[in-house]
This record gives sequence, structure tokens and C-alpha cells, in this order.
Amino acid sequence: MRYYDEIVKNRQSCRSFEDKEVEAEKIADIIAYHEDEESDLVDELETELKFYDSSAYDRFKDSVGYSGVCIKAPHYAVLYSEKGEHYLENAGYIIQGITLKLTELGLAACWLTINDAAAAKTALAADTEKELACVLAFGYRATDNDEKKAPKLSLDELCMGADFETEVDTDLFYPELEYCLRACAHSQSFQNLQPYRMLVDATSVYLVGLPSDMTNEYDRRLNYGILMFNFYSVMWDVRPQAPRWSFEAPERDLKLPEGVTYIAKCKI
Ligand SMILES: Cc1cc2nc3c(=O)[nH]c(=O)nc-3n(C[C@H](O)[C@H](O)[C@H](O)COP(=O)(O)O)c2cc1C
Repeated sequence: MRYYDEIVKNRQSCRSFEDKEVEAEKIADIIAYHEDEESDLVDELETELKFYDSSAYDRFKDSVGYSGVCIKAPHYAVLYSEKGEHYLENAGYIIQGITLKLTELGLAACWLTINDAAAAKTALAADTEKELACVLAFGYRATDNDEKKAPKLSLDELCMGADFETEVDTDLFYPELEYCLRACAHSQSFQNLQPYRMLVDATSVYLVGLPSDMTNEYDRRLNYGILMFNFYSVMWDVRPQAPRWSFEAPERDLKLPEGVTYIAKCKI
């Protein structure tokens, strides 16, 4: 599973960047990927991707970044989106595509929580009617950056059987599915809390959200979009015609306890 091993598993958030701009050719590669290859979850929603240089830090540092800390980077990618059902999951999905493209190009990135979307948009003087939905800091990882890899859920911890009351037997996973689910377990999430689980039966996977007092609605939905893209990216690498995620209700009772919410499903 080349894409999983080399890209998804290798990606790691970066909070200390080299003070060096990314070459114009690489920025052009990212734009070309976004325009020609990017996949989304909700086709009807219009989005706009804009890039900012390091000067954005001083402009929006009071409105993005958790614990009041914004991350200094040579570049920022910001996705603006039309508002509509599932627009944050869709935005998270799109920007995760960019994050993995950056990994492919030897670059590093870190998602930034948006504490005040309207203030950040005003600070950036963004010429768009759309809502600021995602902020990603990116550039080259500093050579002295010694951040440790974040621990992730194991497959057994992430996955459950056909419903919330059934244990999973991961030995039944065929290799492609196993790596798609490993990619889910490796997803970024707000403070690495990973407040979700995957239910797996013979024909579909179902993403369900766990209660998390620490994660607000905004970041929760971005988390889901990121995980859905990770799943898709590994599936797409081996089976480009694979079905896409759907927000339609499940066709049977997933026996979810109170507080656990159904998010989306994907045929496998
Ligand atoms: C929606 C979202 C918001 C995040 N916000 C921040 C942030 O403001 N500051 C930060 O340092 N990291 C932020 N992160 C990065 C997570 O902390 C990081 O993904 C997590 O610790 C797991 O580490 P990994 O990305 O290396 O796997 C955010 C991640 C997500 C998905």
C-alpha cells in the first residue's frame, strides 16, 4: 500500500517551520492538484482556495490557533466555502487533500483551529462572500524540529463490527480495506482526540461520532472530513472507481448508544 505507507502514515503535523519560502513550482503543483484532481464530498457547494504569505500571521494570530497560539509559517492555505449542509465536512475533506499533496511534495503542514471565522476573514481582507472554513499553515519542516509523532488509535480501537454492540474481527479485513481503515486511524483531529469510530460490515463502513466536550461542532465536522478523505485517498489509489462517501441515513439500525451520532457511510 504505497500511498498509505509513503504519504498518509508519514504525514505529521508541524509547528516549527524553516524560515524559507516554498518554490513557486511547488505552489503551482498544489494549485494544479486542487484545480484538476481534487475530490470533494458535496459537489453543489462552491469553495475558493487562497494562499497567504507569512505576513498573515500578524493579521489573524488573535483569531486562529488553539489555546490562543497561532503557528508561524511561511505560507497559509485558507479555504472559503459557501455555507450549506455539510460544508465543514466538505471543507475538511478538500483541505486534507491539500495536506496530503503537501506531504507528497516534501512539505509539512498544521491545521489551525478557527476561533473567530469572521474576524480572521476581515483580518485577511478576503475578497469573497464565502465563509472562512479552514486554515492550514505550511512550509518546510525546520531541521531542528523534534516534535514526536502523535499516538493513534489501533485498528481494534477504531473499528467495531456491524453495529455498536458487535466486536470487530480485524482478521476478516482484506488488505485494501485494512489500509483504508489504518488511514482513518492516522487522521489528524483536534488535539488528537479522535472522537469517532468506524463500524464495518461486509458491504459498507459507517463513521460515527463520539461525544467530546473538548471538541466544538466546527472542529468536529472538520475532523470527520479529514478522516473521510484519508479513507478515500487510500481506496482511490488502488480502486479509482470506488464509491464515494454518502451522508444518507444508514439502511439498518447501528444500535448507537445515546450521544453517539451517525455521520456518513461508504460502500466498500
Ligand atoms: C480541526 C483541527 C484543528 C486543529 N487546530 C490546531 C491548532 O490550532 N494548533 C495546533 O498546534 N494543532 C492543531 N491541530 C493539529 C492537531 O493537534 C494534530 O492533528 C493532532 O495532534 C495529531 O497529530 P498529527 O497531525 O501529527 O497526527 C488541529 C487539527 C485539526 C484536525
